[in-house]
Amino acid sequence: MPTQHDAVEVILAKRDRQELTDSQIDWVIDAYTRGAVADEQMAALAMAILLNGMDRREIARWTAAMIASGERMDFSTLSRPTADKHSTGGVGDKITLPLAPLVAACGVAVPQLSGRGLGHTGGTLDKLESIPGWRAALSNEEMFAQLESVGAVICAAGDGLAPADKKLYALRDVTGTVEAIPLIASSIMSKKIAEGTGALVLDVKVGTGAFMKSVETARELAETMVALGKDAGVNTVALLTDMSTPLGLTAGNAIEVQESVDVLAGGGPADVVELTLALAREMLAGAGRDDVDPAEKLADGSAIDVWKQMIRAQDGDPDAALPVARESHVVTAPTSGVLTRLDAMAVGLAAWRLGAGRARKEDPVQAGAGVVWHARPGDEVTAGAPLFTLLTDDEHRFERALASLEGGYDIGTSYEPAPLVIDRIG
Ligand code: URA
Repeated sequence: MPTQHDAVEVILAKRDRQELTDSQIDWVIDAYTRGAVADEQMAALAMAILLNGMDRREIARWTAAMIASGERMDFSTLSRPTADKHSTGGVGDKITLPLAPLVAACGVAVPQLSGRGLGHTGGTLDKLESIPGWRAALSNEEMFAQLESVGAVICAAGDGLAPADKKLYALRDVTGTVEAIPLIASSIMSKKIAEGTGALVLDVKVGTGAFMKSVETARELAETMVALGKDAGVNTVALLTDMSTPLGLTAGNAIEVQESVDVLAGGGPADVVELTLALAREMLAGAGRDDVDPAEKLADGSAIDVWKQMIRAQDGDPDAALPVARESHVVTAPTSGVLTRLDAMAVGLAAWRLGAGRARKEDPVQAGAGVVWHARPGDEVTAGAPLFTLLTDDEHRFERALASLEGGYDIGTSYEPAPLVIDRIG
């Protein structure tokens, strides 16, 4: 039982730019999880942390206290090493879908506990739930058994994992306190450390469609998370990757599953393949298996075999037709030239407004909704040829989705390609 403190004392300390003691942190996280610290008090503390920050020791202690609020999984008795990936969230970011079965096909188990989407970035579980029959909820025993037999699991994080974070994240979402590096880093890393993975690769997104708009803040977040992971004994590295342009050619649910299957079948957009392979190589290296080449496992069909086993193990039918939106609307290119910019935030908002994402946690999502873009920056476009296809079940959603795409792209004459992987921190 942590030493007793007082919520106001802890709030005042951070408001007045003091460092919180270990004992204050342990107490406030425990008391908040139990309901003894009120939401308005935690909101005030979160705002004080956003404004005044926390040092490395405070962040490490805050993370440890959130881990201690729930259960900690242990996969050390599995017959193969484990590695996981976490992305800070982006538009068209379906990488987990091809990545988990690919890494499993290379001999490393992937315990991927995922979430549903909120706002303009999609959720991995929402995407997989567009596959007929697929089930996100697994017991710990089912998860363990599937990791042993198939090697990859993507499922919902149970309520027992870092419950303090669940409560705090929901509160931050409605109090303007999401964008605090100490709170983001501790939120992500408490879940990943509690999940029990041996190695972890962080995909920290930078750009208009990401939380972190600048390379400097993304680097600070990445360095903070890598230090937290290493201190907890998890072999952690981070890649900073571009999210000014959305990934691939689709943002939505079923359409992103289809694009992932294309990648697993040896095709798919070049940027999705590049990032999947870059992250797979890091995961394999972190788990001590850098002797395996993941590109070979895409080419020889073993990655797609694991995908099918992974979907079937969770009652999904990997061969069933995916849902298709009832309505579609094509946007054509106004002029001919080279697509010089495609803004990730504009595309993400359009997909969200079409019904692919949710505004509140309890909202349903449409499996078939989303945006398909027919060109990527650097591609030639022709006046009158399709540039975007918008998909939804509700025709009335087109108007607002179209408004979000306005000003979201440029057609010009020359394009200077930017690297997808900006930096590596590890
Ligand atoms: N994702 C998380 O899990 N937590 C945050 O705070 C931000 C993104």
